[in-house]
Amino acid sequence: MKAVVAGASGGIGQPLSLLLKACPLVDKLALYDVVNTPGVATDLSHISSVAQIEGFLPADDGLKKALTGADIVVIPAGIPRKPGMTRDDLFKINAGIVKGLIEGVATTCPDAYILVISNPVNSTVPIAAEILKKAGKFNPKKLFGVTTLDVVRAETFAQSFTGEKDPSKTNIPVIGGHSGETIVPLYSQAKPAVKIPEDKLDALINRVQFGGDEVVKAKDGTGSATLSMAYAGFRFAEAVMKAAKGESNIVEPTFVYLPGVEGGDEIAKETGCDFFSVPVHLGKDGAEKAVNIVKEANEYEKKLLQKCYEGLKGNIEKGVEFVKNPP
Ligand code: NAD
Ligand code: LMR
Repeated sequence: MKAVVAGASGGIGQPLSLLLKACPLVDKLALYDVVNTPGVATDLSHISSVAQIEGFLPADDGLKKALTGADIVVIPAGIPRKPGMTRDDLFKINAGIVKGLIEGVATTCPDAYILVISNPVNSTVPIAAEILKKAGKFNPKKLFGVTTLDVVRAETFAQSFTGEKDPSKTNIPVIGGHSGETIVPLYSQAKPAVKIPEDKLDALINRVQFGGDEVVKAKDGTGSATLSMAYAGFRFAEAVMKAAKGESNIVEPTFVYLPGVEGGDEIAKETGCDFFSVPVHLGKDGAEKAVNIVKEANEYEKKLLQKCYEGLKGNIEKGVEFVKNPP
């Protein structure tokens, strides 16, 4: 298994690369960034784990060299938020960064699983899909927007109600998109079941939806979530790699192109959104089946979902337009 991190020298990129270097499922690890990858790769190369590691910069066809033979490409490249910014404010710069990297994937390793972390995920994943379509290389089963941090937050913030020592043992589906009200945690579908007191539910859901802002505020101008994101990004990448190696019963929420995944058409019809995060069965070929958990939502959650659809449609459209009618 060859893994590539694009944006490997950044706040997410470095700890994510560390986790991938330490992961026994990874045989080769290529780090790509516009700066500092020789240093990051040399540092990580001293770790006595399986993965052979190399760092690449744009010079000398570095992107092509990094991507050659890749099985999985994780993309945390792009600028993060500062206080007062929305994720959509990142679009102008990050859209172009993601476009360039996906063009590289389309020509060099079109069969790789592609995991997009760069914000705004609600738009960068549609951008990636359109670029791949344009190149005739779009496989919807292998393109994922990483929304695992929302799941991790939903588990963590509910711990006081579950009483579990290990919060990750409670499975809480978080669906929709990855920004503010497009993030919809479905506590009614938690397994094992969780009873959230009615007067605490609004605040809990708001904390999951705006957990990113909590970190941006606390970091006070120096960036957004990096370490928790590296953990979440690795958790999702590991799930994809385990499924690729034949492990069964792996289901993770992720932002996918619904019409391209079995079971997705019905969800796209119900939500009016072609891209949506739902629990997805992962297998050797990637996204095997999308679970229609939308229809299980209770009345309270259905109201949250209505708001989600409104915001998400515009974000998706913006990404598609960026490729179809470039600015
Ligand atoms: P950062 O600024 O610390 O790191 C970004 C890295 O990308 C830098 O090292 C930069 O040199 C690199 N880069 C820029 N242009 C590049 C290009 N063309 N090719 C390769 N690398 C390039 O930022 P960060 O805190 O690591 O965040 C990265 C992105 O992840 C941001 O857009 C942020 O909003 C997003 N993010 C997403 C989630 C999520 O849940 N999906 C969570 C946290 C952050
Ligand atoms: C997050 O949810 O922490 C990330 O999307 C980063 C951000 O901008 O909030």
